[in-house]
Amino acid sequence: MDEPKRSGATPKAAVKPAIDSDSISSKAETKELTIYLDGKFVPEADAKVSVFDHGLLYGDGVFEGIRFYNGRVFRLEEHLERLWDSARSICLEIPIGCAEMTEALLETIRRNDLREGYIRLVVTRGVGNLGLNPTQCKRPSVFIIATTIALYSKEVCETGLTVVTCATRRTGAAALNPAVKSLNYLNNVMARIEANLAGADEALMLNDAGNVAECTADNVFIIKRGQIFTPPIAAGALRGITRSVAFDIAAELGVKITETDITRHDVFVADECFLTGTAAEVIPVVKADGRVIGNGKPGSITVRMIGRFREMTRETGTPIFG
Ligand SMILES: Cc1ncc(COP(=O)(O)O)c(C=O)c1O
Repeated sequence: MDEPKRSGATPKAAVKPAIDSDSISSKAETKELTIYLDGKFVPEADAKVSVFDHGLLYGDGVFEGIRFYNGRVFRLEEHLERLWDSARSICLEIPIGCAEMTEALLETIRRNDLREGYIRLVVTRGVGNLGLNPTQCKRPSVFIIATTIALYSKEVCETGLTVVTCATRRTGAAALNPAVKSLNYLNNVMARIEANLAGADEALMLNDAGNVAECTADNVFIIKRGQIFTPPIAAGALRGITRSVAFDIAAELGVKITETDITRHDVFVADECFLTGTAAEVIPVVKADGRVIGNGKPGSITVRMIGRFREMTRETGTPIFG
């Protein structure tokens, strides 16, 4: 059989997506970060994990992405609870307690002199040998990065995203439950690559039944006739912390919100659509697979949701500076 022909070139996206790695801002560009690594605060140049760490070798570990606003960490307890749940599910014992983790996280922010930003908290299985058996890994490693992040341009946050449905299905719970926020994100990365190649801002991921699960790192919501709908966790959606904030805001706004299976058709004919995620925050979607959603502009419920979300992020959370 003939060898498949290789063009040698990576296919280019037709349209430049709104997520542009060049535009992701990071404190690292201007100042060296201080990283928490296994009980110590070290300069980022010295923040290194072993090539034998199973987090690197096998994606064996768990993580959280957490935001802080106006000197307060938003929904910290919920993030830590999910971290511990993810770890328990994969039989990973986090080597420090919740109080110590909280203090390490707050101190990392303080040492980087930040009031607004994004935290990446990672627990890896730790150093083992080249076999995948986790019993070889004697001590999990914990590291915390506090920096700044802006996933989308200001303009896109106002005008809304375009999404495409990707062929890559969300991992089924029987293979690897998507409720576990593990270091194994290749499923999401493959979906993200599809969005990039299609020139879209995000990829809509379906589950094995063909229903909408979520996007690559965000939960999906649609609005029809004044009511909000979102896929249930059983459809393959992560139990997003921002998702639960959207439920709280909907209750405050007096808008009914229902967890139900959603098809692509439901997205196409929705009046409004938005995504939620810690990094993405609450962001409108105005086009899906070439179909304009509603009138092609962020809808009124979405705009109210974003407004209230911004208020909550500024007013609530765990104080960083006491
Ligand atoms: C796959 C996936 N879905 C949804 C979300 C949104 O969850 P959260 O609002 O907790 O950030 C994330 C981000 O953590 C994610 O990685």
